[in-house]
Amino acid sequence: MSSITQQPAALVTGAGRGIGRGIAVELGRLGFYVAVNYAGNSAAAEECVALVRDAGGDGFAIKADISSGRDRVRLVEEAAEKLGRIDVLVNNAGVAPTERADILEAGEESFDRLISINLKGPYFLTQLVARKMIAQVESGAAGPFGPPRIVTVSSMSAYTASTNRGDYCISKAGLAMMTALYAARLAEYGINVYEVRPGVIATDMTSGVKGKYDELIEQGAWPIKRWGAPSDIGRAVAAISRGDLPYSTGEVINVDGGFHLRTL
Ligand SMILES: NC(=O)c1ccc[n+]([C@@H]2O[C@H](COP(=O)([O-])OP(=O)(O)OC[C@H]3O[C@@H](n4cnc5c(N)ncnc54)[C@H](O)[C@@H]3O)[C@@H](O)[C@H]2O)c1
Repeated sequence: MSSITQQPAALVTGAGRGIGRGIAVELGRLGFYVAVNYAGNSAAAEECVALVRDAGGDGFAIKADISSGRDRVRLVEEAAEKLGRIDVLVNNAGVAPTERADILEAGEESFDRLISINLKGPYFLTQLVARKMIAQVESGAAGPFGPPRIVTVSSMSAYTASTNRGDYCISKAGLAMMTALYAARLAEYGINVYEVRPGVIATDMTSGVKGKYDELIEQGAWPIKRWGAPSDIGRAVAAISRGDLPYSTGEVINVDGGFHLRTL
């Protein structure tokens, strides 16, 4: 028996600010009911929920640290219960190193922190959500945009070696394999899995290195000579979320102003 409810439902991690907020708002424009996960700043998360509503959707905030196994279980249970279904999981939450350090000097503490939040968190969160999604598919529950989907926000650092933040690069390269693994495993259930790979996006994460990137943009480090905006990532995720890439899975969508191009 199939049950289709009108409102599509999404869980977006780290959605209080930055790219996650941009994604939540674009999903709001499509009418999504959004679980806005946040780590600490509840006022920012509530602000995001208000923006999602203004955009035409609805939502609620859930506090959870995605690097904690206990929090992940609670997050998924609470989100699934309130949303009714999880049509889209967006793994967005992530951190940069507290301090950039050369790989000949960098310590294990930063490595463990980044792997735990940026890679282990999304890997096991996806496992929990994928099980829910499989159960949804098997019970015939589906949203208005079709089968469930999983989107992970990685980075151009997945393949660009920055020797002063090796831990970050490795965590993002790991997300690329995570996408391939879940894409291969979940295809039989009709669950497509995507990696969205941002370039340099104007958020709190990049505010400390603004001068460096302003200069690089000026010098033409990537063809589209501007900063990316959270809405650039949000629109790519929205296209995936409404089912515009039905015959693609394990696919990488670069949203980077063309940074990945090789030119001669
Ligand atoms: N800004 C960029 O240029 C850029 C480029 C490529 C990739 N990214 C990636 O995009 C994602 C979002 O980055 P952003 O620029 O919006 O950064 P940001 O720092 O503005 O936002 C990150 C969000 O993740 C949340 N978060 C951090 N740790 C968390 C945890 N343990 N549990 C739950 N939430 C947590 C933060 O509270 C924050 O809301 C990150 O994965 C980042 O690596 C950013």
